[in-house]
Amino acid sequence: MTVPAIRARKKDGKTEQPLVMLTAYTMRMAQLLDPHCEVLLVGDSLGQVIYGLPSTVPVTLEMMCAHGAAVVRGSWHSLVAVDMPFGSYEGSPEQAFASASRILKETGCAAVKLEGGEAMAETIDFLTHRGIPVIGHVGLTPQAVNVLGGYGARGKSSDEAKKILADAKAVDQAGAFLIVVEGVMEEIANKVTAEVKAPVIGIGASAQCDGQVLVTEDMLGLFERTPRFVKRYADLASEIGTAAAKYRQEVIDRGFPTADQTYRPKS
Ligand code: KIV
Ligand code: NA
Repeated sequence: MTVPAIRARKKDGKTEQPLVMLTAYTMRMAQLLDPHCEVLLVGDSLGQVIYGLPSTVPVTLEMMCAHGAAVVRGSWHSLVAVDMPFGSYEGSPEQAFASASRILKETGCAAVKLEGGEAMAETIDFLTHRGIPVIGHVGLTPQAVNVLGGYGARGKSSDEAKKILADAKAVDQAGAFLIVVEGVMEEIANKVTAEVKAPVIGIGASAQCDGQVLVTEDMLGLFERTPRFVKRYADLASEIGTAAAKYRQEVIDRGFPTADQTYRPKS
């Protein structure tokens, strides 16, 4: 997948077949998800999911580069995009370029994602005109948790709804090739999808978006605290628990290893 191929999926404001996007943080997960996705996102949600941090705010450029490189090694078909972590891009377009170019060079990914609307439009324009494709992210922007005061749905008041639409349009006009809309009232997501040129990827948004994204660990039932908008397609946490308990019992009973897993001289 390439940036122009993804852009081209939305023609005359419509997307025939919605775009499929999931997060990946490791090489092996990328290999497993790659055949099923158009875009793999190395999300800064890895802060909570992999590192046990309280939010995405402490996530560093080093973490994003290490996981981004691992995911690129595990994917062939999907476009890999890497989240720019908090503090690596908001200062100026120049700061954003320095961080984003480092992400591209160190990981081999094809694009970066950054949070913010009107305030980030100049930066998105700056990056796209210098060879760095950008995915926008509006609505609930988790890096702004300290300003927003939590992770509740956005756009419940008409002022907030207008602001989200203006943010999406600003990001679109600035040249973002994809726009993630997170945690907003369905009606706003539909409006954004209808009114911007770039394909809109929903998460906690609307089935009418041009595509969907979920955090893979949430969708697999591996992460215990999940928002209302997550659908669990598997319950891997209980599978892992069952396997570990079985292994424990067999070790205690000396039932593992058996002859099959033991080196013995050939007779
Ligand atoms: O960090 C992340 O996983 C994300 C997606 C949920 C869009 O930004
Ligand atoms: Na993110």
